[in-house]
Amino acid sequence: MPENNATVMIVITTMIGKNLSENLASVSKGIEEYQQLKLLKHPVKLTHYVTLTIVALMILFGAIWFGLKVSKSLTIPIRNLAEGTRRVAEGNLSFRIGQVGDDEMASLVQSFNQMTFDLQKSRKELEYSAIKLRDQNTEIEEKRQYMEIILHNISAGVISLDAKGFVTTINKSAAAMLAINPLEVTNQSYRHLLHGQHLTLASEVMDKLALDSSLNIPLKITLDGRQKSFMLHATALKKNGAHMGMVLVFDDLTEQEKLQRIAAWREVARRIAHEVKNPLTPIKLSAQRLHRKFSGPLDDSVFNECIKTIVDQVDQIRNLVNEFSAFARFPTVNPVPCDLIPLIEETIALYREGTPHIEFKLEAHNEIPKLNIDKQQFKRAFINFFDNAISAIGEQGSITVTLEHLMALKAIKIAVADSGVGISDENKPRLFEPYFSTKEQGTGLGLSIVNSIISDHNGKISVMDNEPQGTKFIIELPV
Ligand SMILES: Nc1ncnc2c1ncn2[C@@H]1O[C@H](COP(=O)(O)OP(=O)(O)OP(=O)(O)O)[C@@H](O)[C@H]1O
Ligand SMILES: [Mg+2]
Repeated sequence: MPENNATVMIVITTMIGKNLSENLASVSKGIEEYQQLKLLKHPVKLTHYVTLTIVALMILFGAIWFGLKVSKSLTIPIRNLAEGTRRVAEGNLSFRIGQVGDDEMASLVQSFNQMTFDLQKSRKELEYSAIKLRDQNTEIEEKRQYMEIILHNISAGVISLDAKGFVTTINKSAAAMLAINPLEVTNQSYRHLLHGQHLTLASEVMDKLALDSSLNIPLKITLDGRQKSFMLHATALKKNGAHMGMVLVFDDLTEQEKLQRIAAWREVARRIAHEVKNPLTPIKLSAQRLHRKFSGPLDDSVFNECIKTIVDQVDQIRNLVNEFSAFARFPTVNPVPCDLIPLIEETIALYREGTPHIEFKLEAHNEIPKLNIDKQQFKRAFINFFDNAISAIGEQGSITVTLEHLMALKAIKIAVADSGVGISDENKPRLFEPYFSTKEQGTGLGLSIVNSIISDHNGKISVMDNEPQGTKFIIELPV
């Protein structure tokens, strides 16, 4: 290569074909466009970057918005469910959650609402049942109180036993009639409480009740040495054929029977006295007339004696009939306030001389108030007691009269006890009947008169064995 700056030019010309020129033109055009494009390269690149960034941001915001929307559709119902659960737990069963969409969450909300609805319904039913139960309980309680009042106040004795024969209830009258403490017998089996004759009797009643659902039987039993009559109505309690226990209702007929017997005797005595008394006056008058008319002319001692015997015997019969009708007549009592102790002392004084072999004792447990009584009749009653006791004692013995003021019962209790031969259980129920006597010379009117006197003073009399020996009469008089 030449080192100088001479310019050498070689011009070579050649005919260029049409195609080539066209190609050259398109190449130069292409280069031109390229140059232009090269100039636009940066602005275009920037434009694309901006576009892409905008699109990316839009996608990002869109995703966030979509995420928030989806999470909102989940969290709101869950929050509502949580609130609902809290309200339900607090007891607000009327709380409902609003319906959302129709997806799984919606069916969960629907189940929750159904559950609270069911809970509310069952709670209402429960409340209704509780009110009904309370009403029923009140009704049962009222009925129980009503029954208790009736049981407490009726005069009949009522005892109920369960299926095993244990005493479940016993009312006041039953306890008084049987002289037992209700607390001691409740929840005890009758097999442990009863012995001997009483247990046999109870077992018989149980056997009969097993066959029959109810029965009425008259009973005669000895309680504390006293013979008593009862009318027993027993009813078996059964449920679906199974034995559930029984209810025993009984009435004490002892006093009633005694009064009936006395009333019957009074009627008989009244009629006999009337029939016997009527012809006595004409007999006596006729005998006296015969005496007046014939004693002079006849002057016969036999005649006079016969007339005297007739008159005397008529008088004796009249006395007898009078005594007889004294029993038949309802005596008119003449009550005055009276101290019992001096009255009994006066009566005892009548015996002191004649019966030195009998020791009389008079004891008072406490202060005895004055009583409104017929003095003469009471003296007569004590004389009857003492006469009977003296003949029961025989050789040697004692008669003790004890007085006690029973404050709770508002009564005076008089006990006349002797150490005599005593009275058999068989004879005890008949003692107060007129004409019952075990003595050859006895009229048997003594104790029936005593009984009338005590009844006329609204009192009660009973007899029992004395300990260790003899008889004890108990009189109870209202103060
Ligand atoms: N304290 C007694 N001890 C034993 N038995 C008695 C006693 N008191 C009465 N009795 C019995 O009761 C019966 C009836 O007595 P009540 O006084 O009525 O008649 P009575 O004594 O037989 O006859 P009366 O009184 O006319 O003499 C007596 O016969 C006797 O058997
Ligand atoms: Mg007598």
